[in-house]
Amino acid sequence: MTVPVRHFDAVIVGAGGAGMRAALQLSEAGLKTAVLSKVFPTRSHTVAAQGGVSASLGNSEPDHWHWHMYDTVKGSDWLGDQDAIEFMCREAPKVVVELEHFGMPFDRNEDGTIYQRPFGGHMSNFGEKPVRRACAAADRTGHAMLHALYQRNVRANTHFFVEWMALDLVRDADGNVQGVVAMEMETSEIVVFQAKATLFATGGAGRIFASSTNAFINTGDGLGMAARAGIPLEDMEFWQFHPTGVAGAGVLITEGVRGEGGILRNSAGERFMERYAPNAKDLASRDVVSRAMVTEINEGRGCGPNKDHVLLDITHLDPEVIKSKLPGIREISIKFAGVDPIVAPIPVVPTCHYQMGGIPTNYRGEVVIDGKPVHGFYAAGEVACASVHGANRLGTNSLLDLLVFGKSSANSMIDFIKAQPAELPELATTDVDRAVARVARLDNQTGGVEVNDARNAMQRTMQNHCGVFRFKDMLAEGAAKILEVEEMVKKTQIHDKSKVFNTARIEALELENLIEVAKATMISANARTESRGAHVRDDAPDTAETPNGRDDTNWLKHTLWHRDGNRLEYKPVNMTPLTVETIALKTRSY
Ligand code: FUM
Repeated sequence: MTVPVRHFDAVIVGAGGAGMRAALQLSEAGLKTAVLSKVFPTRSHTVAAQGGVSASLGNSEPDHWHWHMYDTVKGSDWLGDQDAIEFMCREAPKVVVELEHFGMPFDRNEDGTIYQRPFGGHMSNFGEKPVRRACAAADRTGHAMLHALYQRNVRANTHFFVEWMALDLVRDADGNVQGVVAMEMETSEIVVFQAKATLFATGGAGRIFASSTNAFINTGDGLGMAARAGIPLEDMEFWQFHPTGVAGAGVLITEGVRGEGGILRNSAGERFMERYAPNAKDLASRDVVSRAMVTEINEGRGCGPNKDHVLLDITHLDPEVIKSKLPGIREISIKFAGVDPIVAPIPVVPTCHYQMGGIPTNYRGEVVIDGKPVHGFYAAGEVACASVHGANRLGTNSLLDLLVFGKSSANSMIDFIKAQPAELPELATTDVDRAVARVARLDNQTGGVEVNDARNAMQRTMQNHCGVFRFKDMLAEGAAKILEVEEMVKKTQIHDKSKVFNTARIEALELENLIEVAKATMISANARTESRGAHVRDDAPDTAETPNGRDDTNWLKHTLWHRDGNRLEYKPVNMTPLTVETIALKTRSY
């Protein structure tokens, strides 16, 4: 089959915050930049980010990037790389003010400065007390950000390819990345996008779990493509469960609700977080709050007829604050829980929200293997592991990550592209043929497995075996089961073979990406025999040497999962910041 080829300086897969921030930088530098997206750009999952983007602007009270850095290292349970964390926290005020100048409609203080609210784990003066660091546009910060970035990209002449799904990376025999092979979803036409530099900004893969705040599009496409291209995935055992998903629906209720004064209560009406985090209380970091909630439920203090959730109470807040600062969550609560939070508390449970791991990069956005950048390949945002979030991300550091690393990866790409010959090299076809064969396999498969059945089996396995609390036997069983699910995925079939808007074909291709993420997660989690951040297991002992089960002697290291043979290797955490002293290891408490 002859596949048409289109030529660009840069190709970006994904039009969320990271992809669009990078595209803007590249297009404004005069480079011909293509952005491929499965959905219209302003519908990318960044749109769902609610509560804010962190930056130590200090608009309402004193703040400093170094305090932000400290909180992020502590939040990461010391698994984050301290050079990347320093870079992100120092850049934060700059990229947020830049965004303001792009036209982002932030809420305002009386004096006209950007409105900031407290968020979990963000404290002043190296962990003293909560600080207002989350720069917010009501509870629709991601929505406002995407619109601002999209409009600037249109002005900068970025080439958008909407409803295109990338299928695989294209590499030459030396592993140099030459672009991607992609499918137009409307027609099923397959096209190669050849470019001097390729950026993955495809977001996360929360859909490996049955209950998730993630959109249906979050299917780990970048991770699947990277894994098939022989690139290892880093720290995939670390998944964040957001404390407040609407019970039964999973839809996100922003942590900004607690930032505005919301309180979590158990069936006795008790503010139980006072027992688990006496200082930060409801604004402890997410892993701590989620575990506290599950403990309350498991010990019989859950609410409702099945005692299977807790309550998020804002009935004591001024209704005008709710209407002006939290209009979106009021609407979500009414629609998905049947509850107006002005008069009654919202039923909530922890729900899978964010992947801390991803494609290994440095803070310049270059994909790095064995200490060396992969020629022409970059990643930014949730798909990447820089690693700034380590074992647990702080809320609002995700939108910050998109801005900082979207921009820094684009700057690296600009330098790289300028150093390349004007002519693109001859296109290598091995990966193109493989992508075409994947689609052909689906079209020819008969008597196989239904996509729904395989996906349900994967989601059940992940939810039951790799949740908020993890158990030795369940992890081992899960690691075996997920390989059985992989066999199902290899035989998935679609009944509708038509070429026009074939969502069955797209879902089957997405599942091939999800299963790579699910395997990486289960196998990495089974192997890490300590508790750290969001990865907490029953068999990790809480001793003087291993407080809270964290074992720095043996496990202060990043996991790298290789698809080939499900092999694991490890690399050290970078404990050396760029300009300041190391934030030394400590037991984590809030
Ligand atoms: O709670 C929230 O608004 C989510 C923010 C985040 O994940 O950073």
